Amino acid sequence: MTQAQRKILVIGSGGREHALAWKLAASAGVTEVLVAPGNAGTAREPKCRNVAIAVEDVPALLAMAQAEGVGFTVVGPEAALAVGVVDAFRGAGLRIFGPTQAAAQLESSKAFSKDFLARHKIPTAQYGVFTEIAPALADIARRGAPIVVKADGLAAGKGVVVATTVDEANAAVRDMLGGGSLGAAGARVVIEDFLDGEEASYIVVASGLNYVALATAQDHKRIFDGDRGPNTGGMGAYSPAPVVTPEIDARVRREVIEPTLQGMVDEGRPFTGFLYAGLMLDRAGTPKVLEFNARLGDPETQPILMRLDSDLLALLEAAVDGDPNASAPRWKPEVALGVVLAAAGYPGEVRRGDAIDGLDADFGTRAKVFHAGTALRDDAVITSGGRVLCVCGLGADTRSAQAAAYAAVSKISWSGLQLRRDIGYRAIAREEPAA
Ligand code: AMP
Ligand code: GLY
Repeated sequence: MTQAQRKILVIGSGGREHALAWKLAASAGVTEVLVAPGNAGTAREPKCRNVAIAVEDVPALLAMAQAEGVGFTVVGPEAALAVGVVDAFRGAGLRIFGPTQAAAQLESSKAFSKDFLARHKIPTAQYGVFTEIAPALADIARRGAPIVVKADGLAAGKGVVVATTVDEANAAVRDMLGGGSLGAAGARVVIEDFLDGEEASYIVVASGLNYVALATAQDHKRIFDGDRGPNTGGMGAYSPAPVVTPEIDARVRREVIEPTLQGMVDEGRPFTGFLYAGLMLDRAGTPKVLEFNARLGDPETQPILMRLDSDLLALLEAAVDGDPNASAPRWKPEVALGVVLAAAGYPGEVRRGDAIDGLDADFGTRAKVFHAGTALRDDAVITSGGRVLCVCGLGADTRSAQAAAYAAVSKISWSGLQLRRDIGYRAIAREEPAA
């Protein structure tokens, strides 16, 4: 791309994409970041501009990138990867960071990713894959509860049922395989053993066999304080995750990341992009893969990028050129913590269109409000999705990052706002062990 004009495209509309656009806008020489389709936050972010194209409309994205002279594209959501946006851009000679459609199957098909893990002897829960109800119910009867039922395809975070009883697991199987609420995504299911432990999100920037790890992170999946209630896309996150000690970090690289990248190369689908391993760590610190994502996490990205102290575009360009270590990331020593503010009804049926107050407050330099499900109505910012904002704070330790985030949160309000009050509690317990 010419040095005179460095236009970047970010595909997506969530908090993850607002954080990507914000950080890329600060990269050396970037003149403009286009966000397709973006949200109210990216519309207002300096140097950023929204383009009203849906993430799965690959022909329109490609035509726009060519017409605008976009020099580099970063893909946020799995939906765009699963329909082959990277293949299309590469085929047209455009530079884009993300996995091909074949490599993105690590996320887009749970059956593929479980079979891949088994083939390459990468630790994960014991499982079976089913398309018929009777054998699936027999498998549940054999394994007993607690047990986990997962739809094979992409289901926007709604495809996993952690069942505490056999009845609940049976109902999930009947719903998914019986052509229920998930449609085609549920036509095949994975049934797997329940794993106990603490979760961590381990994300690397990968390019074939070369990779560099991002700062560690942990999110809070349940809707209510104390990690209770139904699963969501994530109600808050922080970085670093102290549960990932240097020893565990080394094990994750050796036992999970490296064999995964090697396996993808060996199978003829080398992985370039953000590879996210959702891990369960047991008491002994043994990592097992819960899932792969072929993208950054949301909301993990927001605190991770708050801590990034080097050039994001240079890192991703180095990866596309073959080795992200050529521009390895540096991290602020502080902790960053993000609190998700969600709309009324989330994670169920969401109410949209509530006016958000307080966004023009002074949040200082230690906090940042990333938008997710927001839109502009005239000049007002309104809610337009389940997870509306992710409010991040930086601090010397998790408790002060938490205080910075909640201080910023207190300036924002709308009708029906939901949030958790305990984001970061596990890390705080590790940092401040009870006397
Ligand atoms: P997944 O989309 O596969 O990561 O599943 C979503 C969430 O369900 C995970 O983040 C875990 O909280 C939970 N989960 C998934 N698989 C298991 C398992 N085998 N054991 C316990 N919890 C699980
Ligand atoms: N926060 C979990 C995810 O992005 O999948």
